Amino acid sequence: MKCQEQEYSHLSEVVRAHCGINLHDGKKELVRARLAAPIRNGGFGGVGEYLRHVLADPSGRRLAQMVDSLSTNVTGFFREPRHFEFLANQFLPRLIEAKAKAGNRRIRAWSAGCSTGEEAYSLAITVLEALGAQRQRWDVKILATDISERALDAADAALYPRESVRDVPPASRAVGFAPSHPPCAATHSCGLVPLPWTSTGSVEPHIGVGPAWEPSSVRCELPPLQPSTVGRSSPTSAAQGEGEERGTRAKSLAGTDGWLTITPAVRELVVFRSLNLIADWPFCGTFDLIFCRNVMIYFDRPTQERLVRRFWDYVRTGGLLFTGHAESLTGIEHNFRYVEPTIYSK
Ligand SMILES: C[S@@+](CC[C@H](N)C(=O)[O-])C[C@H]1O[C@@H](n2cnc3c(N)ncnc32)[C@H](O)[C@@H]1O
Repeated sequence: MKCQEQEYSHLSEVVRAHCGINLHDGKKELVRARLAAPIRNGGFGGVGEYLRHVLADPSGRRLAQMVDSLSTNVTGFFREPRHFEFLANQFLPRLIEAKAKAGNRRIRAWSAGCSTGEEAYSLAITVLEALGAQRQRWDVKILATDISERALDAADAALYPRESVRDVPPASRAVGFAPSHPPCAATHSCGLVPLPWTSTGSVEPHIGVGPAWEPSSVRCELPPLQPSTVGRSSPTSAAQGEGEERGTRAKSLAGTDGWLTITPAVRELVVFRSLNLIADWPFCGTFDLIFCRNVMIYFDRPTQERLVRRFWDYVRTGGLLFTGHAESLTGIEHNFRYVEPTIYSK
C-alpha cells in the first residue's frame, strides 16, 4: 500500500490532534495493516488519497471511523487483577464504612478508555460484591467512556464469549454473568460478531463529580444516570444470582458453551458514553476512583501529563487513580501520592 513519508506525517498529525494517539514512525507497519481494509474497500490508491477523503468530510464521521480503525481495544475482565484485589480487600471496605458513617451512601467511578466494557463491568461486580446485602441502600454509578463507537456498541451489547471469563473468580462469575444466546440469535439484531480484540490476557500491541460525581451539576450534559438510561441499547434479561442460586449459576456457567451476558444487577450500575479524553469533559464533580488503564500509553508525554493533571480535579480527596501496568507516572509532574505500582491517591 502506498504511504509516502509526508503522507504518514500528515496522518500522524491529524490523529494526534484529534485524539492524542502518537503514531510515531515505529507504528508505520501497524498503521498500514489497520488501514488496509478501509483503503481497499473504498478503492483508494493509498494512504494519501484515503486521508484526503477522510478530511473532506465536514461532519468528522470519517475521521472518527479512521481513528476507530487505528485504535487498539485489547481488554479483558478483571485484567490486571491486583487492582481489583486492592479495591476488594483494602479500598472499598474502608470507603463503604467511612461513607456509611457520614451518611453519604454514594459511590462514583469512571472507567476512562473502557473499550468493550469488560473493565467497567469488572468494577461494577467488585463494588456489588463489596456492598453485599447493603446494595439496595447505596447509589452506585460507573461512568464508562471511550472514543471508539465500535467498542462502545460492543460494551452496550454486553455479549461475551464464554472463554472471556476464564480468569474471573467463580463467585464474581455468579454475580456478573448469565448464559446467553450467541449474538446473531440474541435479542440484539445488530448483527454483532465476536470482536477479535476482546480477549483476556492478550499481549498489548505496541502503538506505542457535587458530593461525588453529580450528574445534575451545572456543566453536566450527561443525562441523569437512572437505570432506564443505562447503556445505549436495551439490556437483555437475565436474573442475578443471589444466595444459593449463585452456586447453581456458577455451575451452569461452567457447563455452558458459547456466550454470556452481563446480569441486570451489574448492567444497571454502568453507563457508557462516547468521550474523547483530550477534548472537553461535559461533566463535573468528583469520582471515588478513576481507572485510566492502557490508554495513556498511546499518548505522547505532554498529553499524558495534561491528562493526569485533569484527572486530579476529578478524583475526590482520598480517592484513587489507577493506571495500566506499563503506565507509571514516573517522570510526569503531578500531585498524586504513590500507593503502590500503578495506584495513586489524592
Ligand atoms: C487498550 S484499550 C484499554 C481498555 C481498558 N482500559 C483496559 O485496560 O483493559 C485503550 C482504549 O482507549 C481508547 N482511547 C484511545 N484514545 C482515546 C481518547 N483520546 N479518548 C478516549 N478513549 C481513547 C481506545 O479506543 C481503546 O478502547
